[in-house]
Amino acid sequence: MAQEDVFKKLVAHCKEYGFVFQSSEIYDGLGAVYDYGQNGVELKNNIKKYWWDSMVLLHENVVGIDSAIFMHPTIWKASGHVDAFNDPLIDNKDSKKRYRADVLIEEQLAKYEDKIEKEVEKAKKRFGESFDEKQFRETNGRVLEVQAKWDELQARFVKALNDSNLDELKQIIIDQEIVCPVSGTRNWTDVRQFNLMFSTEMGSTADGALKIYLRPETAQGIFVNYLNVQKTGRMKIPFGIAQIGKAFRNEIVARQFIFRMREFEQMELQFFVRPGSELEWFQKWKQTRMNWHQALGFGKENYRFHEHDKLAHYANAAVDIEYRFPFGFKEVEGIHSRTDFDLSQHQEYSGKKITYFDPELNESYVPFVVETSIGVDRMFLQIMAATYAEEEVVSEDGKKDMRVVLRIPAPLAPVKLAVFPLMKKDGLAEKAREIIDDLKFDFNCQYDEKDSIGKRYRRHDAIGTPFCVTVDHITLEDNTVTLRYRDTMLQDRIVISDLRSLIAGEVSMKKLFAQL
Ligand code: GAP
Repeated sequence: MAQEDVFKKLVAHCKEYGFVFQSSEIYDGLGAVYDYGQNGVELKNNIKKYWWDSMVLLHENVVGIDSAIFMHPTIWKASGHVDAFNDPLIDNKDSKKRYRADVLIEEQLAKYEDKIEKEVEKAKKRFGESFDEKQFRETNGRVLEVQAKWDELQARFVKALNDSNLDELKQIIIDQEIVCPVSGTRNWTDVRQFNLMFSTEMGSTADGALKIYLRPETAQGIFVNYLNVQKTGRMKIPFGIAQIGKAFRNEIVARQFIFRMREFEQMELQFFVRPGSELEWFQKWKQTRMNWHQALGFGKENYRFHEHDKLAHYANAAVDIEYRFPFGFKEVEGIHSRTDFDLSQHQEYSGKKITYFDPELNESYVPFVVETSIGVDRMFLQIMAATYAEEEVVSEDGKKDMRVVLRIPAPLAPVKLAVFPLMKKDGLAEKAREIIDDLKFDFNCQYDEKDSIGKRYRRHDAIGTPFCVTVDHITLEDNTVTLRYRDTMLQDRIVISDLRSLIAGEVSMKKLFAQL
């Protein structure tokens, strides 16, 4: 199936099974804003728990906070967001559609990459086992020609970004003959900067109202609480502060479902270190975070690091962790070495001293910071994309059937156990409820008595429930049930009293942590 179709199916599945809904849908929706449904919120909470526990429980020098979304407006002046949190936008005069100029150019680069990959794939098929991919990439004329175009464009693009040269960005779009995907024309406006922050007013009187911003990242809430936490927690450098919370960005191009939203959630860690040690810590966190992703078992080949071509105004090193989505490799998480930029700026703008006295060095300094920043929603989309599968199965009556299954790692699955009475009568329903009552404080359980057992399996496969239990007449005699495993569809007859420990071992976060 084409990757575009897979993605369309995924979006439809998210709605049909109560994972994600368009916000304000009955009013025709609100662009790039989404609500999470009954299964979505469970998955989202589990993602957050996986992250929070891996940061705060597993690192004795990391603590968490929950800062307010509204903050003093000077914070955003100090952080540089008022002046520099911009994206370069360009409009097509015919379609009146707006685009990010940098994204149009990135897509052009991706087209060259695709061309190269297609050449490699063709050659692979042609030469079979004897194919030497490295040699082919280094010597094939067609590949070298496209690679040279890529190199030239990339170099020009990076220079334009680093010089903030908007005219050059437009010139690149013209020279590359990039057309608007809607009108198909090259009738472009000039490139302009567009600030991504939402603002509102706080205060009741028109005169006294204060212009404030909805935070575009949670990180600043950590920086301005650095002193509070360091002092009250008696934290010694190196130490970290973790936070999960909403962030808001007025994205110019909001496409690809929950990949780029205007209201989203971040999980961020600011790790405070001695000046001069930041690049070593940057390397450590880079690897720690990659391990966290790969522990989910979605295939190492589907992740890669992407070094930043243009560093943000606060960073001296930056890398993204990218995942292979159905629409290509895209950023899920950013790791930045933010130097002492933020704390120094807040020191200057607030007039408060923000330093750390290092007893080992017997000196005070402004700490340097390594940040890890991941979007909950992007992580959610990654999990849905990685685990969605359509499979041919043989149904109970021997007929071929299709099932849609979400192979979500059991610790993250919205529902852990579904319990089905074979039929409602003969006390089977009561027995099924008894099992749920006994286990409902340990894991998220669901009772289901409607339709055939096969249909009930399908419903739970579609939301990723790892275990289903069927209560039948034999259960009433010997307290055993049929336990059915989502991934293998195999069934076991087991004693009810063994259910708790068997399921607990599989759904515990420890299962994931053991691989970190
Ligand atoms: N504090 C650093 C920071 O905010 P970022 O690279 O702009 O860095 C970090 O954002 C992460 O937040 C991204 O890797 C992505 O997962 C998520 N994110 C950013 N913008 C987003 C958006 N519009 N919608 C959904 N997730 C977003």
